[in-house]
Amino acid sequence: GLNSRLIAGESIASAPAADAAQTIHILYGTQTGNAENLAMDAAASAKSLGMAPEVRGLDDIEMDALDAMRHVVIVTSTYGEGEMPDNAQLFWEALSADTAPRLEGMKFAVLALGDTGYDGFCQAGKLIDTRLEQLGATRIATRLDCDIDFEDAAAAWLGETLPLAAEKPVAAATTTVAPNLSREATGWSRKNPYSSTMAVNRCLSGPASSKEIRHFEFDLADSGLIYEAGDALGVMPVNDPALVDLLIARLSASTETEVSGGSLGALLSTQYEISTPSRDLIAEVERRADHEELTHVVRKGDKEALDAFLWSKDTLDLISLIPEGSLNAGDFISLLKPLQHRAYSISSSPKEAEGRVHLTVASVRYHAANRDRGGVCSTYMADRVAEGASAGIFVSPNKAFRVPGNDDAPMIMVGPGTGIAPFRAFLQERRASGAKGRNWLFFGDQRRDSDFIYEDELSTMSRDGLLTRLDLAFSRDQDAKIYVQTRMKENGKALFSWLEDGASFYVCGDASRMARDVDTALGEIIVEHGGMTPEKAADYLAGLKRDKRYLRDVY
Ligand code: 2AM
Repeated sequence: GLNSRLIAGESIASAPAADAAQTIHILYGTQTGNAENLAMDAAASAKSLGMAPEVRGLDDIEMDALDAMRHVVIVTSTYGEGEMPDNAQLFWEALSADTAPRLEGMKFAVLALGDTGYDGFCQAGKLIDTRLEQLGATRIATRLDCDIDFEDAAAAWLGETLPLAAEKPVAAATTTVAPNLSREATGWSRKNPYSSTMAVNRCLSGPASSKEIRHFEFDLADSGLIYEAGDALGVMPVNDPALVDLLIARLSASTETEVSGGSLGALLSTQYEISTPSRDLIAEVERRADHEELTHVVRKGDKEALDAFLWSKDTLDLISLIPEGSLNAGDFISLLKPLQHRAYSISSSPKEAEGRVHLTVASVRYHAANRDRGGVCSTYMADRVAEGASAGIFVSPNKAFRVPGNDDAPMIMVGPGTGIAPFRAFLQERRASGAKGRNWLFFGDQRRDSDFIYEDELSTMSRDGLLTRLDLAFSRDQDAKIYVQTRMKENGKALFSWLEDGASFYVCGDASRMARDVDTALGEIIVEHGGMTPEKAADYLAGLKRDKRYLRDVY
């Protein structure tokens, strides 16, 4: 079917509770699908413990329903710098309000997913955990705050916590939460990526562009790796050899220098993050360096000042603040974080891409302090994975971000720049499945001449009627800026009528400016063309979110 994983999840959710006392509610707050996947894993193990798990997204939970729950495990990620993920915002609004019910009858535990690289680490989980206690619910296990490398810790925590959530004793020895097994039958994962051959690596943007946007195609061969339009692809990068060499020189060491875990050259190339400095490295350099500004920004605890100081500085810049050779290679390594995969929205549908998975990625390149620098994985793919060479990949499912389940429902897609990626996949998906629903794409970038990527494909889709409407916003082709939201507002009447006809509204791309402004524009369109007060329009938007018709893949 269109979405077999979601259907599998729903069958768990709707399984009749044999014994009401054994019902365990596993609620998730998710942005990119990790928390949702983990909730599904937790449900599978709860089931094997003889419990009746009910899995739901947080926004599907009304306060009355919450009040009636006796055993609750919440798995939630955090979005951006400490915000609730998209599908938990309505829930949090209600839970944090004065009108929230007392929850004395509830036993709960919270598993928080996060990234220590961001401010507000696991903040959504922390807030929910604190608030439930405030409302009188009983915590049955200490909250677990996970960093990006969450799988093992989360599985262990669930293994200990789920039995505690059971009314009757269950055999803890049988509890094993096996991450991924229920999802990825072929076994490719972050821990075990598939080594895929790069079949196509080409530049989409024109030479005059201020950007470099590339199209990649990875060959899936006989990997058995499966994905759906809307999923993301994890790519394991290898660090820039030029930066590795500079670091080794600065450490007065050599590629062959043995440190715990292997040779310095190999470890710095494939095992550790050497671009973004870790907190440990910053702290150690601050301690050793006689650097007034660094000491000032670190000691002051002023995050903005520290960010400004660290702007575009990598680990080499940091250790260049202390005397050459004063930090030995082993100590340096011990201060680094493991090198992580990078995730990109897939830009193809498996129904059309014939054994391949496509990505649409902007190469991040800039020059600062006398060195060329670049994004770790975007430049790795662009410069160092030639066609025919291979790279480690795995699928990171995003079950919430899908074409509408109803083939006749209209889709409105807002995806400027590389934000077009999942919508190219959605359009391919609908072409392949013959879905008859109308499709409207808002696309844009700086200049039509150099930045209109996939122009031929989009023209064909328009000509063939697959794209009912294509509205373009090139911001720098005229004096006044024209953005995707400008086009939305110009066409607000039609846009509102599409929503009234049951359209799903999708946004992909820059979160901090574009997606925020698109959200504002959408609200304004509903006010103007729906003849609503701003409060009614906010309810209307909340309704779209609740119905899963306002979906975002933003970063
Ligand atoms: P600009 O840089 O010319 O201002 C992709 O980067 C495109 O997004 C560019 O055309 C860029 O315009 C545009 N952009 C910048 N800020 C935006 C915003 N707040 N909303 C929508 N698009 C924006």
